Amino acid sequence: MRADFDALAAIGATPDGGVDRPSLSEAHLAARAWFLERVAAARLERRVDGAGNHSAVLPADGPTLLLGSHFDSVPNGGRFDGALGVIAALHVLLAVQASGRALPVALEAIDFTDEEGTLVGLLGSEALAGTLTPEALLAPRGGREALLAGLERAGMREEQLWTARRQPRSLAGYVELHIEQGPVLERAGVQIGVVTAIVGARSFSLVFRGEAGHAGTTPMTARKDAGLAAAAFIGAVEEIVVRDFPGCVATVGDVQFEPGAYNVIPRTARVALEFRSTDSHTLDGLEVALLERAGDEASRRGLGLDVTPVGRWEPTPLDPGVCDAVEEAAAELGLTSLRLHSGAGHDAQALAGVTPAGMIFVPSRGGLSHDPGELTAWDDCVNGANVLLGTALALAGRR
Ligand code: GLV
Ligand code: MN
Ligand code: MN
Repeated sequence: MRADFDALAAIGATPDGGVDRPSLSEAHLAARAWFLERVAAARLERRVDGAGNHSAVLPADGPTLLLGSHFDSVPNGGRFDGALGVIAALHVLLAVQASGRALPVALEAIDFTDEEGTLVGLLGSEALAGTLTPEALLAPRGGREALLAGLERAGMREEQLWTARRQPRSLAGYVELHIEQGPVLERAGVQIGVVTAIVGARSFSLVFRGEAGHAGTTPMTARKDAGLAAAAFIGAVEEIVVRDFPGCVATVGDVQFEPGAYNVIPRTARVALEFRSTDSHTLDGLEVALLERAGDEASRRGLGLDVTPVGRWEPTPLDPGVCDAVEEAAAELGLTSLRLHSGAGHDAQALAGVTPAGMIFVPSRGGLSHDPGELTAWDDCVNGANVLLGTALALAGRR
């Protein structure tokens, strides 16, 4: 498993120890090509569906237990996020194959397309679950052009995305091993996290529209500076969340000014806003508060404001039966565990609507993730893979 993990981490590797494999980039496609070769060498079946999800299959006469995660990364990300879950899933298949044991379920190790939302977010898993909507493809987080360019690079066609849908009765469940990406397990000194729920997230593209002008000759009182409105809004986001929405998080992860020069007042400021909570009513309240404030900052300066929703994922409880199976698998291996929710989004939330879904977390050093410094001790990775194997066998045995 270590050799495969390292071989994968070398694809799209960055000098600081991370990976840069945004969805459907050349590096991501190279990772997928490597995976298909690896799967063939292992004499497992290969499967690529209409949404570009890449799988290794150990067939059996019965429904399919999906195990997996994603090979795509955020820009300049770490080498564990997503990758660990697919590599561990592959090695669960290899372990069962080597044992010669026949299971009442087929096992499928799957790499879902575009989990991270460089393009759409949960693209492959929602296509498989049948919850992908045409609207999500029209105004995606990464923009429509980037989506079409990515599909073209991958040799995929938009109209084929829908063919990835699977019938719920063809599935026996979904289990995903992932790094925690936060500090809870490390601080508690616990080896395995049993994930009970995944936060909901909403994202919006906001465009403040003002007037460009000469930065030297336009008096400060005679400006419609879109950059200032964006800056005031960004400060207000923190203030609103900290004061009125404890337990929630909100982020402005990108800002772009146009035309973008030292000596030109910004005509437009494009702001990427995202916020998360475990509770959908809280998300409603936060959405109103944040968008109202954006409107106030725009009107204070006589600016226009365009608001485009570009992503919406509901808070998702995971299956209690799978949670129990994960907890028992950890206990059987003599590993300590605790229950927690995930502040990060995962393919499991798309699958949870159509099949019993669960997740296993392993500790993240310093809680760091979406960064090249992301690190999980190798022993913890192996612990997680063994819990994934134990959970898969337990779920197979229940059928
Ligand atoms: C995915 O990693 C997300 O939570 O943004
Ligand atoms: Mn991930
Ligand atoms: Mn991620």
